[in-house]
Amino acid sequence: MDKAWIFGGTSGIGLAVAQRLARAGRPVIVAGHTRARLDAALAALPPGARGELVDAADAASIAAAFARHGRFAHLVVSVGGASAIGPYRELDESALRRTLEGKFFAYQRITRAALPHIDAGSITWISGAAARAAIPGMSALAASNGALHAMVGPLARELAPVRVNAVSPGFIDTPYWERALDADARRKTYDAMAALVPVQRVGTPDDVAAAVELCVANGFVTGTVIDVDGGRRLV
Ligand SMILES: NC(=O)c1ccc[n+]([C@@H]2O[C@H](COP(=O)([O-])OP(=O)(O)OC[C@H]3O[C@@H](n4cnc5c(N)ncnc54)[C@H](OP(=O)(O)O)[C@@H]3O)[C@@H](O)[C@H]2O)c1
Repeated sequence: MDKAWIFGGTSGIGLAVAQRLARAGRPVIVAGHTRARLDAALAALPPGARGELVDAADAASIAAAFARHGRFAHLVVSVGGASAIGPYRELDESALRRTLEGKFFAYQRITRAALPHIDAGSITWISGAAARAAIPGMSALAASNGALHAMVGPLARELAPVRVNAVSPGFIDTPYWERALDADARRKTYDAMAALVPVQRVGTPDDVAAAVELCVANGFVTGTVIDVDGGRRLV
């Protein structure tokens, strides 16, 4: 079966993707930033799963990781990065640059390094609902995720037969939020987010992973953005 790389596959959405693809019989390689989470992820995956420590800010570490594993068919990028959240009037240019660097450019660095090694398969980027919902305070994230969306179509044509898609999550219960908020703030935020969206709940990592699996497995899907946001972009 076709081998899949999942960058950011050691936690949250990326780990759920790795678990789904591995359950379907695909060899998976997960890449993350910290040793403890890489070890925990490998323990949560079938024995054949492989792992790499990389820094998405460091092109050399990414290139070396790809070189160690040979050719592969599918790339999923689900890396979290620094972002600036707040009123546009208070975001200076460096905050905007930091946000694009943390996600948009990190995704480009990983994807470009993958190109010499990828066979006809797929590339799937995890973007974010900030790109399609008009959320005050999220303009920088909207720009970073929206830039990814804008590239999906052109790249689906340029890189064919490799297929290129994005999956755009809404609010998803992942370890990111455990680190960002204490338990009380998290519960209040989850309740507020669930009340806001038509589906009346926050998402699970596997909600997103199911859409990624479609992008990986369905050879007729390319150049598209799949919203997995519980309707967040509508409100
Ligand atoms: N959760 C949400 O509500 C939500 C909503 C919309 C979009 N998203 C997007 O979904 C993606 C995944 O988010 P998540 O919630 O699953 O986050 P997460 O649980 O924190 O996972 C993030 C992953 O990225 C890796 N990573 C972070 N910085 C890295 C770096 N410099 N180099 C290499 N790997 C790095 C992490 O590795 P370590 O843990 O080892 O650092 C981890 O594997 C992100 O792009 C995020 O913007 C999330």
